[in-house]
Amino acid sequence: MTDRYGVIGHPIAHSKSPIIHQLFAKQTKQDISYEAFDIRPDDLDKEVRRLVKDGLRGFNVTVPHKEAIAELADVLVGQALRCKAVNTVTVAEDGTLAGDNTDGLGLLRDLRRNLRVSLAGELILILGAGGATRGIVPALLEAEPAELKIANRTSERAELLADEFGEYGPVQACTFDALEQQPFDLVINATSAGLRGETPPFPSSIIGPDTVCYDLSYAMSETPFLSWAREHGGENLYQGWGMLVEQAAESFMIWRGERPDTEDVLRRLRRPPDKLALAVPG
Ligand code: ATR
Repeated sequence: MTDRYGVIGHPIAHSKSPIIHQLFAKQTKQDISYEAFDIRPDDLDKEVRRLVKDGLRGFNVTVPHKEAIAELADVLVGQALRCKAVNTVTVAEDGTLAGDNTDGLGLLRDLRRNLRVSLAGELILILGAGGATRGIVPALLEAEPAELKIANRTSERAELLADEFGEYGPVQACTFDALEQQPFDLVINATSAGLRGETPPFPSSIIGPDTVCYDLSYAMSETPFLSWAREHGGENLYQGWGMLVEQAAESFMIWRGERPDTEDVLRRLRRPPDKLALAVPG
């Protein structure tokens, strides 16, 4: 019998998870289906109960439900124990929900394995202090950077995260204009500003020619953050396509016990212009 899985979010129409998981299923010859469910925050509890009753074996969770599902789950496991946000739920035979989070591991795998970026002993800066940052900070700290700085427009949010995660490693908070005049080894954009076509006033001193600039957002053309980074001398520019596919592979592994090959799926999703590819005459 076909095992049913899905992704919940609001909005959800543009989610790439159904296509990614269908490609994984085909590649591993597993008999699963995977659908997108648009659930409004007010209906979350009721709709999740309905999906469980309908026999879903597991589901991914995206914006804006990751923190609410961490509250609703019967048990938190893996990275979700630390970051208190859930992107992967496994439904047990008795209907209980186990919440895990694969975002951080997906990011680490893309950075270290796909892009060959080292993290241990490095200076890392995360721009933004919302849900996306919460999901990746504990995993990044496990990679033992020299320092992890969280910079945000609203300093209180960054400080709250730095306080919460301080026990896991060297993490500090500041505002954009308090960033010191030195380039970081890795700058990760976790703000949602780019979705509105905006680029906040990040100081250009955070980027040097050796800085790896990674945008958690992804698009078929260059994202506003990466355009900004390129204009300020950034040469190593990456969008979040790899993290998207790697976090999905980690979820698939949790559910099905088999890790799919991500390279082929990533290629099919058409990894968009990296590394000045936009400058290639065409
Ligand atoms: P998500 O769950 O996607 O991370 P979020 O919780 O709404 O979404 O957080 C969005 C992040 O982007 C926050 O850090 C937000 O800054 P504030 O905490 O100051 O609101 C940041 N952000 C969004 N638009 C921004 C903008 N125009 N300039 C600077 N930061 C912005």
